[in-house]
Amino acid sequence: MKILVTGADGFIGSHLCEFLVQKGYQVKAFTMYNSFGNNGWLDTTAPETLKHIEFFAGDIRDPNGVRTAMKGVDVVLHLAALIAIPYSYHSPDSYIDTNIKGTLNVVQAARDFGIRVVHTSTSEVYGTAQYVPIDELHPLVGQSPYSASKIGADQLALSFYRSFELPVTVIRPFNTYGPRQSARAVIPTIIGQIAAGASEIKLGALTPTRDFNFVLDTVAGFEKAIHSEKAIGEVVNLGSNFEISIGDTAKMIADVMNKDVSILLDEQRLRPKDSEVDRLYASNSKAKELLGWQPKYGGLEGFKNGLTATVDWFIEPRNLAKYKTDTYNV
Ligand SMILES: NC(=O)c1ccc[n+]([C@@H]2O[C@H](COP(=O)([O-])OP(=O)(O)OC[C@H]3O[C@@H](n4cnc5c(N)ncnc54)[C@H](O)[C@@H]3O)[C@@H](O)[C@H]2O)c1
Repeated sequence: MKILVTGADGFIGSHLCEFLVQKGYQVKAFTMYNSFGNNGWLDTTAPETLKHIEFFAGDIRDPNGVRTAMKGVDVVLHLAALIAIPYSYHSPDSYIDTNIKGTLNVVQAARDFGIRVVHTSTSEVYGTAQYVPIDELHPLVGQSPYSASKIGADQLALSFYRSFELPVTVIRPFNTYGPRQSARAVIPTIIGQIAAGASEIKLGALTPTRDFNFVLDTVAGFEKAIHSEKAIGEVVNLGSNFEISIGDTAKMIADVMNKDVSILLDEQRLRPKDSEVDRLYASNSKAKELLGWQPKYGGLEGFKNGLTATVDWFIEPRNLAKYKTDTYNV
């Protein structure tokens, strides 16, 4: 089976490509074209894995490029997206072009070639939980342009199932963390600042809760989705069914790193009141039922194990050197 992964050069996509190679799939990595020949995080992948990956450099906004990349594949795992919430406050057009138009390009080509589609959503589409745990029937509330663009992309992908019987599954990961995550996300921000020696770390809101998932659990969910007939035409949460506040997450990380730190509120990291998602806590019953998926790093103990693996990776000097720990990364 030949699988195209879009967003392959990013955090989750690079782990996903490596996971799929280990499982024996033929993997084609769609990376974002640049004139440096830079393949993002896949540039750090071991050569013995890399030799099994075929590369295609393009732009998800370009219909012809996407069509060219998709020719000859059996499945597309579509992860390419702009994902930073603060960036979406001032450049929403690029989110429409990348997340919605990009998804349209993927499903159009998939329809023409008869390709199975696994589209990536996000828990951000639910907005602040109106009830917990959040199941797939929870209302969708776009509290940021990013979230709104993902709601649009999800609905477009599902409309191709309903209108044309295109085999589409929408995978909806809750917050994912692990090695290689960008510093715009809270866990790398906390680890990075502590690893750089700060005794006072700068953060935004501390009370919101999140349902964190270790990246290896998330990529395992994608692989299971490929084989689930029952998941065609469905939206499936990938979440650990465990919530923790940002403040308590910071304390756990400091504990794992064996450091005493205090937390300083940094106003620029606060989101507009009605845009901040206050609570995310997933139901994963549907993923268990339709995909046979269950997190290996779930619960408090699993979270601690995932954080330990993440910290171990970040504190390697060659990894930490890739991060700007003293600035607020958007
Ligand atoms: N990280 C999380 O916590 C999380 C949670 C839920 C859902 N997601 C979703 O998972 C997917 C991957 O996110 P990530 O965390 O790995 O982020 P990331 O920023 O590391 O990866 C995004 C990828 O999209 C690619 N991309 C962006 N614009 C492109 C374009 N115009 N053409 C081609 N490629 C383009 C980037 O090169 C990058 O590889 C996204 O769809 C995101 O919405 C992430």
